[in-house]
Amino acid sequence: MKILFIGSRLYDDIDWYVREKGIESVLTESNEEAINLDLPDQVFIVPRGMDGPKQVALMQNVDAIVPLIGIDPPLIDVAYMKEEVEREYGIPVIAANVRAVELTSNKINTKEFYREIGIATPEYQILTGPDELTIDFPVVLKQGEGQGGKDIKVARSVEDVEEYFEDFDQALCEEFIEGSEISIEVLGFSGEYVALPPIYKGETTIEGTHPLNKVKTGPCMVDGLDNNLVQHAAYTVARNLASDGIFEMDFMYSAERDQLYAIEVNTRPNGTRYLTTATCGVNSLCELVNMAIGEFSLANVSDKLEYHYSTEIPIGNYEGPLPNEPVKSFEFNDFVVHGPKGYQRVTARADSKDELKKLVEKIT
Ligand SMILES: Nc1ncnc2c1ncn2[C@@H]1O[C@H](COP(=O)(O)OP(=O)(O)O)[C@@H](O)[C@H]1O
Ligand SMILES: [Mg+2]
Repeated sequence: MKILFIGSRLYDDIDWYVREKGIESVLTESNEEAINLDLPDQVFIVPRGMDGPKQVALMQNVDAIVPLIGIDPPLIDVAYMKEEVEREYGIPVIAANVRAVELTSNKINTKEFYREIGIATPEYQILTGPDELTIDFPVVLKQGEGQGGKDIKVARSVEDVEEYFEDFDQALCEEFIEGSEISIEVLGFSGEYVALPPIYKGETTIEGTHPLNKVKTGPCMVDGLDNNLVQHAAYTVARNLASDGIFEMDFMYSAERDQLYAIEVNTRPNGTRYLTTATCGVNSLCELVNMAIGEFSLANVSDKLEYHYSTEIPIGNYEGPLPNEPVKSFEFNDFVVHGPKGYQRVTARADSKDELKKLVEKIT
């Protein structure tokens, strides 16, 4: 089995798994200074875009292609490449297709999609000026594209909206939902979809603090919210996207209204994955590899399911005890450290809340 991986930045997360499976690894990367280039069997530095990876895949006669791209902008090129390579050469590309990327990479398209498939989403309007606003304050102003809280503002007054329009001439405006933020990963391949356990990412704040900067826990335990409801909503969204790979979805739950709202979908590896793995033992990046080698199925994922309490803490620079090899895996660890220096996070797990508390005290 020979797999082409596109992008080296996340490769250290799965290097151990690729070796364990005896897979021959080929990797393309556009930045010759990038990390992890010493790990795969072969590395090709190619220009940006999907032409280079496609040529390498054909030249190297690979059995499958697994893009490991954790940012939004390249996803549409990957999707076009997927459709061409699968159609013309019959090589599976484990990634979202063009329709799924178009629906999810733009938050306005995603809102319309939710409405079409009957999934509740916060009330919204598209504004081209502050005077068009009809939703009550506070409101959340966003751009169609963006991740990590980029270009997002919670507005409490007309002045706030006017200020936002100094930088933009259009906005997606949503009612502000006071409540809990929840993320969930769904794995999809060849018409099979598995919703993993939801993760709790804190309460929304009027400052619009992004979950990246909050302490998170798994599994999600929010008073009044049934996790089955989250999993079912996520499954419905994934099934309607009808595509392959990882779907990470953000939801919000308002206890006051007893209502779950869908916020956004990312069709790529994402920051929720460490907590998901800590909580249930299933690693979404390893599952991409399993999809490529024909070992992904509902039954196989169900067989792996474990039940742990987990938490993820932003820590800046980690100085605690060193994890065991493979360091980015829960295989022989009860904690994993990830993220760039200065923005590191530690994800830890244990079999009771009490043990988890002790573990966190030990390592932080
Ligand atoms: N309707 C909303 N009500 C309350 N907070 C929101 C709302 N929309 C977004 N936020 C806050 O902004 C963050 C980022 O919004 P999101 O739409 O997920 O964009 P991004 O792609 O940047 O993650 C959310 O995680 C949440 O904290
Ligand atoms: Mg988000």
